[in-house]
Amino acid sequence: MTDKTTHFGYQEVATEKKQGLVNDVFSSVAGSYDVMNDLMSMGVHRLWKRHFVATSGIHTGNTVLDLAGGTGDITKLLLPVVGKTGHVVVGDINAEMLEVGQQRLIDAGFFGRFEVQTMNAEKLPFEDNHFDAVTMAFGLRNVTNKDKALEEIHRVLKPGGKALVLEFSSVNNTLLKKFYDTYSFNILPKIGEFVAGDKDSYQYLVESIRKHPDQTTLQHMFEQAGLEMCSFQNLSGGMVAIHKGYKL
Ligand SMILES: C[S@@+](CC[C@H](N)C(=O)[O-])C[C@H]1O[C@@H](n2cnc3c(N)ncnc32)[C@H](O)[C@@H]1O
Repeated sequence: MTDKTTHFGYQEVATEKKQGLVNDVFSSVAGSYDVMNDLMSMGVHRLWKRHFVATSGIHTGNTVLDLAGGTGDITKLLLPVVGKTGHVVVGDINAEMLEVGQQRLIDAGFFGRFEVQTMNAEKLPFEDNHFDAVTMAFGLRNVTNKDKALEEIHRVLKPGGKALVLEFSSVNNTLLKKFYDTYSFNILPKIGEFVAGDKDSYQYLVESIRKHPDQTTLQHMFEQAGLEMCSFQNLSGGMVAIHKGYKL
């Protein structure tokens, strides 16, 4: 890996090409993303997401950016929490994911309660000190320059606001890791191939998990971006982790 290259799953690609490749993946999976999430995680992603929002400390009246919000799972959980006096912006670089998300949120009865906006996490279209919280679920590992994205999250938070990242992480139990690796490398891409007709996208998703910084590295990156009182919580033996940090 050089300054001019980065990883796209296990492939080394030119840095400026990565976002386009990631966009192709999510444009390709947008229509089947929600069904596939349930199938691949056997529904467990719903529990992780519920726990993420329930322990977020976000409350009534908060203004929240759900970054890399995709098809709106986190926003759907956030809207009842922030209530009618709060506001949620669903931001994502991929218009196709957002289109699915917008329709789902309207179908769930949230018309007029949220805003949908395309944006790159590396250059957020907001002034400084704007949000009470920024959530990012399963999005950060897809971003080319993660440090830049964390700096941007820090910039748009109000003093006292918090950054919350839910992401795949490093499994800390040898036996569980063995099972998890076998399942993700041998079974997940096959489910992707047979159900969604798209083995390559699901192969990327599995590989991108393994290339993502582990818990302590990501906590250090939070601190480098200016976030304070940083901590993380492992879920399911470290399959995923919630990282939290504050702007003071
Ligand atoms: C795995 S999905 C997660 C969607 C949703 N947050 C969830 O938990 O179901 C990852 C999302 O990250 C988005 N994404 C990738 N790179 C991005 C970037 N640079 N800026 C904003 N969103 C990005 C993708 O378009 C995709 O919708």
